[in-house]
Amino acid sequence: MSLDELSRLLQYSAGVTDRRTGSRAAPSAGATYPIETYAVVNNVESVRAGIYHYLVPSHELDLVREGHVQREMSNAALGERMLLEANVVLVLSAVYKRTERRYRERAKRYIHFEAGHIAQNVYLVATAMGLGTCAVGAFYDEDMNNVLGLDGQEESVLYLLPVGEI
Ligand SMILES: Cc1cc2nc3c(=O)[nH]c(=O)nc-3n(C[C@H](O)[C@H](O)[C@H](O)COP(=O)(O)O)c2cc1C
Repeated sequence: MSLDELSRLLQYSAGVTDRRTGSRAAPSAGATYPIETYAVVNNVESVRAGIYHYLVPSHELDLVREGHVQREMSNAALGERMLLEANVVLVLSAVYKRTERRYRERAKRYIHFEAGHIAQNVYLVATAMGLGTCAVGAFYDEDMNNVLGLDGQEESVLYLLPVGEI
């Protein structure tokens, strides 16, 4: 997978698509944007393996942790092979408070919708580029949060999307 493909995957799934208004590729209740996206790079041209946080407003990748973490991710997900073999795994996490401040107990529902919107975009963009993806929801929350370095309280992993050449 090329860096350009990863760039397009991120931008058209979760990124800003209208610079003037700041609007993103996926809708967000009250524009509270509770979902964070991480790219866990395994095999992407000219990108070192590691966990990167996708900085949406600037469309940049911020290195969180360098190295191959595929085995750790797979172990946290009942040995899921796609997580070992994918070129990149997109990880969607939620910062619940952002949306709860405004929508209280209704926020959880909205946040889970939003992860679904972004995940569907990943399917569409990956397919348009001739790549494959498969939603992965089967993992141990605490173990996966540990891989990503998330505390599971303020921010917690929701959904994984391995993307790769098919
Ligand atoms: C919420 C959700 C969680 C899923 N979790 C997993 C998973 O952990 N492992 C897996 O192999 N597939 C997972 N899938 C993919 C489904 O197994 C797959 O979509 C289904 O078998 C239909 O196949 P298709 O998507 O190729 O049409 C998940 C799908 C959804 C919507």
